[in-house]
Amino acid sequence: MKYLLHFLNPFKWWRAQVFKINNDGYDKSTYDLELHLYSKLLKNDMLHYGYFNDPKVSPEEISLQQLEDAQVLYSQQIIDQIKRKDENILDAGCGMGGLAKIMIDKKFSVEVLTPNKNQIEHIKTKYPFLKSYHSKFENLNTDNLYGTLIHSESLQYIDLDCAFKKAKSILKPTGQWIITDYFRTKSSGMNKSGHELDLFLKKAHEYGWTILHKKDITENVLPTLKFINMYVERFLYPLKHFAFEKLRYKNGRLYFMTEDLRASIDNKIKREMASIEIDKFTQEKKYILFVLERI
Ligand SMILES: C[S@@+](CC[C@H](N)C(=O)[O-])C[C@H]1O[C@@H](n2cnc3c(N)ncnc32)[C@H](O)[C@@H]1O
Repeated sequence: MKYLLHFLNPFKWWRAQVFKINNDGYDKSTYDLELHLYSKLLKNDMLHYGYFNDPKVSPEEISLQQLEDAQVLYSQQIIDQIKRKDENILDAGCGMGGLAKIMIDKKFSVEVLTPNKNQIEHIKTKYPFLKSYHSKFENLNTDNLYGTLIHSESLQYIDLDCAFKKAKSILKPTGQWIITDYFRTKSSGMNKSGHELDLFLKKAHEYGWTILHKKDITENVLPTLKFINMYVERFLYPLKHFAFEKLRYKNGRLYFMTEDLRASIDNKIKREMASIEIDKFTQEKKYILFVLERI
């Protein structure tokens, strides 16, 4: 009953309105909730997909350790492409710093950049020796010129024209730009994350970039999605059902009053799940490793 009284109390409504105003300024680039969640689930400071040598591995066989190992293998795919090993590298959209840490261990000279507040604080605390920029890539203010620029699953967040212009201005004339990300193969797809592949290729050409290397790694990253889907099906959905049913029997009034809220939670989960459905992903996206140079 005391919960129901909250809904009838004008003072509570006023406080709820103040709370809403204080929390309205959600800026995805400075505080990305999904990335924050992944950073708590995985402990190797990597926020990208895993690269599986065996794309046929079943999700039930994948342990958290194997997922983290696959993320390291993904990083290795990028590192294998670095040709200018004695020159500065910029890891743009560096997440929690896991890829940069591997490169530092290999004695590469690395700088990192992220607009995300939690990530930059984490990096400054855990990797204080890393030169870091708290900035969006497109707003980066530096006179430095790099031999290699890396976007590991971070290009999708950046306007393509801004990215091509900024990449040219901070790379040495024959510097290399390594990009790993998923791209949309259809403009009509349900989930709009990722740049359109044709548009990316067209702009690369217009801005004078040559594609030195292109590797489609969709099959190798798919086990990551299968793993997440399995957890949602086998844990998240049953737990949600359990919680809602528990509420129904423990507090029928509150259950009744929160019908709309529960429906909106269901809808939100459905929308989020659409972005990681295996069939949709393979129909609408390709995960590609690119190496670009301006020659
Ligand atoms: C999916 S995470 C990948 C993180 C990291 N590169 C990795 O491979 O683990 C995407 C990263 O892009 C960053 N990002 C988002 N918007 C950005 C922007 N405008 N400029 C640069 N980085 C951005 C996020 O903060 C995050 O660090």
